[in-house]
Amino acid sequence: MSSVRYAVFGHPVSHSLSPRIHAAFARQTGVSLAYTAIDAAPHEFVGALDRFVGEGGKGANVTLPLKEAAFAICARTSERARRAGAVNTLSWNDGQWHGDNTDGAGLVRDLTGRNGLDLRGRRALMLGAGGAARGVAPALLDAGVSELIVVNRTPERADALIDAMGEPERALSRYWQDLGEIGDFGLIVNATSAARGGGEDFDLPFTLTTPRTLAVDLNYGEAAIPFLAWARAAGCRDAVDGLGMLVEQAAEAFEAWHGARPDSDAVYAALRGKDALLVTAD
Ligand code: ATR
Repeated sequence: MSSVRYAVFGHPVSHSLSPRIHAAFARQTGVSLAYTAIDAAPHEFVGALDRFVGEGGKGANVTLPLKEAAFAICARTSERARRAGAVNTLSWNDGQWHGDNTDGAGLVRDLTGRNGLDLRGRRALMLGAGGAARGVAPALLDAGVSELIVVNRTPERADALIDAMGEPERALSRYWQDLGEIGDFGLIVNATSAARGGGEDFDLPFTLTTPRTLAVDLNYGEAAIPFLAWARAAGCRDAVDGLGMLVEQAAEAFEAWHGARPDSDAVYAALRGKDALLVTAD
C-alpha cells in the first residue's frame, strides 16, 4: 500500500467530486495516488488532520465549512491565501502545514480560458461572504473588475471580507435588503450555500442584471440550479456553474503537489457529460 496519501476534508463531503478528479489527473500523468474524502465537523478538523498525517497524509483539499479553519492551522500561507483568509489546499512540508488558495485562480481560469469571457471593467456583485467568497474575491479584483460589491445575509462577514481586500475605493459592502437599489452588474457571483442540501432559496431583483450580465454560481449540480434559473429568467447572457472552477482549482493543487499539469479540459468534459445533474441548460 502506498504510504503517501491525499484527501479532501469537508462536512459534508460524501458528494465531493475531488476524489474522482484527482484520480483522473493521476491516471493522465502517471502519478500513483491514494486520494479519499474525509468527513470532519469543524470541532473535529484538527484531530482528523493529525490522524491523516500519522497515516502518511501529504496534502489535502479543504471544502466547506473548513476553509477558514484551515487557514488558521497553517504555519505558512501563500499571499493569495492570506488575502482570502481562507485555505483550500494544504501541503505537509517539514512537519508543518503550508496553505494555499487555488479557488480564485480556478474560477478566473474557467471563466476567461474555458468560457472565453473577459472580466475586465465589469461591475461585480458577490452574494455571500463565506470561505468560497473569500477565495475568489481577490482574484476577481486582480482580473480587473471595475468594482466589487459584497452582500451577505450577515453583514458583518461582508464587512470583514471587504476590510481584508484593502481596496476601499473598489471593493465595498452593501446590505442584502438594499439589493434592489444598488444598480446593475456585469458579473454576479453566487457564493452562498443557500441552495445546498435542499436549503432555502432566495429572491433576487431582476434590476441587478442587464442583457450582458455574466452570472456565475460557485456551486455545481443541483445546488446551482435555482440561481442559474433565476439568471436565465432575468435574461443574463451567460450563466456558468462551478464545475469548471472545481476542476481548475483541483488542477492547480495537483500541479503544486505532484509537479505535473493535468489535462483539465478532458476531465471537465468527462464530468460534464457523465452526470445529467451537472449539465447546465445553456
Ligand atoms: P462556503 O465555504 O461554501 O463559503 P460558508 O463559509 O459556510 O461556506 O458560507 C456560506 C455562505 O452562504 C455565507 O455567506 C452564508 O451567509 P451568512 O454568513 O449570513 O451565514 C450564505 N448563506 C447560507 N444560507 C443562506 C441563505 N439561505 N440566504 C442567503 N445566504 C445564505
